[in-house]
Amino acid sequence: MLNFEQRLIDRLRAAQRIVVLTGAGTSSESGIPTFRDVLTGLWENFDAQQLATPQAFDADPEMVWGWYEWRRGLVMQCLPNSAHQAIAAMQDLVPDLSVVTQNVDDLHERAGSRDVVHLHGSLHEPRCRDCAAPYVFPAAAPDEPGGGRRLPPPVCTECGGMVRPGVVWFGESLPVDNWLRAQELASGCDVLFSVGTSSLVYPAANLPHIARAENACVVQINPQATGLETVVDYDLQGKAGHVLPALVQAVWADT
Ligand code: OAD
Repeated sequence: MLNFEQRLIDRLRAAQRIVVLTGAGTSSESGIPTFRDVLTGLWENFDAQQLATPQAFDADPEMVWGWYEWRRGLVMQCLPNSAHQAIAAMQDLVPDLSVVTQNVDDLHERAGSRDVVHLHGSLHEPRCRDCAAPYVFPAAAPDEPGGGRRLPPPVCTECGGMVRPGVVWFGESLPVDNWLRAQELASGCDVLFSVGTSSLVYPAANLPHIARAENACVVQINPQATGLETVVDYDLQGKAGHVLPALVQAVWADT
């Protein structure tokens, strides 16, 4: 049983607008490795961030497409965990709640979250690298062996160009509308949760600072220190799948 400070409980009960900023740690208890986890199989000599660049795709499209298809196959086999579920439950307990995620999976949506702003794109929405036409995957999940494999990217049916993953890579801009919305949400909320993110990748990592500058209460949930501790009002150390359901229970069980 976790104990939470009464001041935090009161603040959450009074909150009108909550933003939950999530990162890869939120999905890790579903079985999806974070970006800082060591890769295995075909990718054991790579760092995830080396594969997440336009240069990596240009240099070796089969390697990069294979890596993202492996991740997509994994996501399709995984289920939302108790952290996703607690976030979805919270939206019915407060007047206004939005999720802003750096994750490229769809586990928040599958848990029932209705307002999810994706900052780094989606594994499920690839597009042509040349003409940007969306590419529709075959219905079946990719049948990837355990460690994954190199795979040629599909060819765009509109222009014959090469299809690329629908994610934001290092060095690329965030989708403008989503980034504007995320900034608006952060600057207008009463409480911002930063859950399962290393807070290292900008501009997403600015959102807790934007919220704090507008006097919102900022709460971090992470088993490890990230550096954001100096900014947050509450640093709840632990796994999101453990801390979030306990917090929802402590704050709203009697309401
Ligand atoms: P990271 O992989 O950088 O960080 C994951 C964070 O989750 C770490 O701080 C872990 O301590 C924490 N964590 C692990 N398990 C957890 C759990 N069960 N509960 C709570 N926290 C846990 O992931 P992100 O911060 O999401 O961008 O990375 C940000 C961006 O960097 C990603 O979106 C990706 C990337 O490389 C692009 O690809 C553009």
